[in-house]
Amino acid sequence: KLSIHISWLLSLHPEVTCSNRRPPHVNYWTVKWGQQIKMDDTVTYSCQWGYKKTDGATNASCTRNGWVPNIFCQDPSDCEKPPPIADGDTTHSLLNKYRHGDWVQYSCQNFYIMEGYPYKRCINGEWDGQMTCLKPCTVDRAAMNSHNITFRYKRDDKMYSPHNDHITFVCTRGKTQVGTLEMRQRCVDGVMQLPTCQ
Ligand SMILES: *[C@@H]1O[C@H](CO)[C@@H](O)[C@H](O)[C@H]1NC(C)=O
Ligand SMILES: *[C@@H]1O[C@H](CO)[C@@H](O)[C@H](O)[C@H]1NC(C)=O
Repeated sequence: KLSIHISWLLSLHPEVTCSNRRPPHVNYWTVKWGQQIKMDDTVTYSCQWGYKKTDGATNASCTRNGWVPNIFCQDPSDCEKPPPIADGDTTHSLLNKYRHGDWVQYSCQNFYIMEGYPYKRCINGEWDGQMTCLKPCTVDRAAMNSHNITFRYKRDDKMYSPHNDHITFVCTRGKTQVGTLEMRQRCVDGVMQLPTCQ
C-alpha cells in the first residue's frame, strides 16, 4: 500500500532536472549554456588544477537526488612530512603538514653533487620531485701506492673528488703503465678506477 502511494507521488512529481550552473572548481564540463539537464543525463568534466574528481569519477549523472557525485571536484589534500633523501637534507626544519602547492628545498651533504631539481612540491597529498645526491670519490693513498701511481698535478693532491671531477695519475718513478685504463679518470657517483703501473 505504502509503495503504491510513493510511486503515485513520484509520478506526480514534476520532471527531475539538475542545475546547469557549473559546480565549483570544475574546469570544463559538457553542459552548454542554458542547457536543460534531465534525469539520467550524463556529463563528462574535468577539475581545476590540483583538484581531484570525487572517487575518481569520469562523469556525473543527474538523478532524482541531484547530481551524483554531488561534489564534482574535491579540495586538494595536504601532505605529510616530505620523505628524506640519501646523503642530503632539507634546507629548513620540517613541519608536520604542508598545503597543496607548498615547496620544500633539499641540499646534499658536503662533497656530494645534486642531480635533478632541488625541490619537492606537495601536489594533492603526494610529494612530487626527484633528486639524487651523487657520491664523491675518495682517493686512498694506500690504494694508489699498491697501483704504483701518484697524482700528476700537485693541485690534484686531494683525497676527495666530487662526482664528474677528473684526476690525472702518473706512474711512480721507474714504473710503466700496464692495462688499458687511461691515466685520466673521472669520478662517477663515488667510483674512480685506478690505472696500474708495474
Ligand atoms: C560514465 O562513467 C562510467 C563509469 O566510469 C562509464 O562506464 C560510462 O561510460 C561514462 N559515461 C559517459 C557518457 O561518459
Ligand atoms: C707495483 O710494482 C711492483 C714492483 O714493480 C709490482 O710487484 C706490483 O705488482 C705492482 N702493483 C700492481 C698492482 O701491479
